[in-house]
Amino acid sequence: MLGVEKVGHRVGRHWVRAGHAVLFGANDPRELHAWVGDLGPNARLTSLVGAAEADVVLVAVPFREAPGLYEALSAQLAGKVVIDATHPVRFDDRGRLVHALGVHPTAGERTSRLLPRSLVARSFTHIPEELLTTRAFAEPVRWAMGVSADDDRAHDVTSDLVRDCGFTPVSLGRLADSGPMDPEGPLFPHLYTEADLRRILARVGGKSDDINPTGGANVQ
Ligand SMILES: NC(=O)c1ccc[n+]([C@@H]2O[C@H](COP(=O)([O-])OP(=O)(O)OC[C@H]3O[C@@H](n4cnc5c(N)ncnc54)[C@H](OP(=O)(O)O)[C@@H]3O)[C@@H](O)[C@H]2O)c1
Repeated sequence: MLGVEKVGHRVGRHWVRAGHAVLFGANDPRELHAWVGDLGPNARLTSLVGAAEADVVLVAVPFREAPGLYEALSAQLAGKVVIDATHPVRFDDRGRLVHALGVHPTAGERTSRLLPRSLVARSFTHIPEELLTTRAFAEPVRWAMGVSADDDRAHDVTSDLVRDCGFTPVSLGRLADSGPMDPEGPLFPHLYTEADLRRILARVGGKSDDINPTGGANVQ
């Protein structure tokens, strides 16, 4: 876990609960993060470098900080699944949330270019952080979470970790197709059922893995 505040904290708690050993990597591990100790022996507070030793790494730091982190940790992250949860988002002068990269490339493609030796996935991006806890625990499985990756293993590992958080993973396909999860995309920043999420992707021509060709939602 790179970043241990809102997103890192909430997702990490789910993963510990699911039985994973989680290294919570803080910029400045200190008293403020003492809650990690309450999660039991499977949770450990460490530095960012320490957390990058994990088999799978979730990036939950501010978007603008991520490139420097990728540069510093690229050797450690090589060959690993790196799940990018960062938002390339900014407010424009009319107060609208807009895509800081201008929509193309997608955030996932950009991360993949910055980490060419890692298996980059994109997920945990389109749901506001507080719902990562409240919805998952209140209604496990009902709510869907988009997942994109170019590499099959990265896709499958990320999907399993999404399930471990109580959400149903829905594939958007490759990183180039992950735009709907980015700012200004139709999934951002919302919570959908699986059926609704698939219906939205079908409308916008997304690459969901199981879109009903008639445009209707697939309810499974
Ligand atoms: N908030 C949401 O609803 C939401 C939902 C989905 C995705 N996201 C995205 O997920 C990411 C994390 O969001 P958040 O709301 O959890 O943010 P946050 O609460 O601001 O937490 C950011 C974390 O990044 C760390 N950090 C800050 N600067 C850093 C640096 N230069 N190097 C390494 N670590 C650094 C912070 O550590 P220190 O406090 O020790 O500096 C903190 O642990 C963001 O990119 C955000 O856009 C947010």
